[in-house]
Amino acid sequence: MTLTTLPRQSLGFFPTPLVELPRLSRALAGPPIFMKRDDLSGLALGGNKTRKLEFILGEALVQGADCVITAGAAQSNHCRQTAAAAAQLGLECHLVLGGEQPAEITGNLLLDELFGAQCHWAGEHRKGEDIPQLATRLKATGKKPFLVPYGGSNELGAAAFVEALCELKQQLDGLSQPLGHIVFASSSGGTQAGLMVAKKLLNWDVELPGIKIDKDESEGQIFEEMVLELATSTARLLGVEAEFSLSDVQLNADYLGQGYGVVGESEREAIRLTAQQEGILLDPVYTGRAMAGLIGLIRSGKIGADAPVLFWHTGGAPALFAYAEDVLSS
Ligand SMILES: Cc1ncc(COP(=O)(O)O)c(C=O)c1O
Repeated sequence: MTLTTLPRQSLGFFPTPLVELPRLSRALAGPPIFMKRDDLSGLALGGNKTRKLEFILGEALVQGADCVITAGAAQSNHCRQTAAAAAQLGLECHLVLGGEQPAEITGNLLLDELFGAQCHWAGEHRKGEDIPQLATRLKATGKKPFLVPYGGSNELGAAAFVEALCELKQQLDGLSQPLGHIVFASSSGGTQAGLMVAKKLLNWDVELPGIKIDKDESEGQIFEEMVLELATSTARLLGVEAEFSLSDVQLNADYLGQGYGVVGESEREAIRLTAQQEGILLDPVYTGRAMAGLIGLIRSGKIGADAPVLFWHTGGAPALFAYAEDVLSS
């Protein structure tokens, strides 16, 4: 398979814009900062899952699915975008969400409801642990469910980010100074695995520090190893000849704070600074934390002022409404 022969369903608007953030750069006395605006990818207020779902749901349609199941946290952006795509394609959508049904329905959850998704509350199980049982129940009623993995992070989702880095490389053609770093939020690993494969494919000498969002290990597997395996299997799927080792998985765990979805002072500062310097909205869980990482790396001198840096905006702003108190408190 190659990127052009994989089944695909168009869902978004590509290429997403590439913009420069001169005021943020000045405020940090840092390098030129560029931003890849995947928050403007379309599909229900945008985000990085639009790219992944084009390939994943392309496969679902080939397989003749009539419903999709996926999983995430109550405020999952991945679930919101899957629900929207399913609505657009006339597929029933089941979301297995962590926690209990909240009293107030807002943010992404409000949008899930509007898209007609059926929410199943799974308590501690926010990473799709309960998907197999639900699939069995749906099959018993004659349905043909298609399982979209947690975060859209399988080989098809990662392939979308191989394409994304190729897209960026073309947009950067003509940039006088080569990019030093690409900083992004890494959570279920598909974005990172795809970028790693594309870096090898393009033979691009750029650093790819993923900012870790979630402390948890997935089913006992160390996250770095999971990303490594996914990069390896994605390269194999696409026929990219590349060997990976753990040293290729660049992950920064310094900005985890109190853990997944707990908004701290550094996320609050990152969200406000980006909003007030550039008029751009980040989200409280992923891009707010990743931007806190970029700010910290610049302030500590780990990212110097000598080469431009790119921040990959992966979306998520609808969650701001659900986290309003946390984002505003000081
Ligand atoms: C807004 C946002 N950014 C980044 C990510 C992380 O991407 P990945 O799951 O591919 O690591 C997610 C995942 O849900 C997300 O919703």
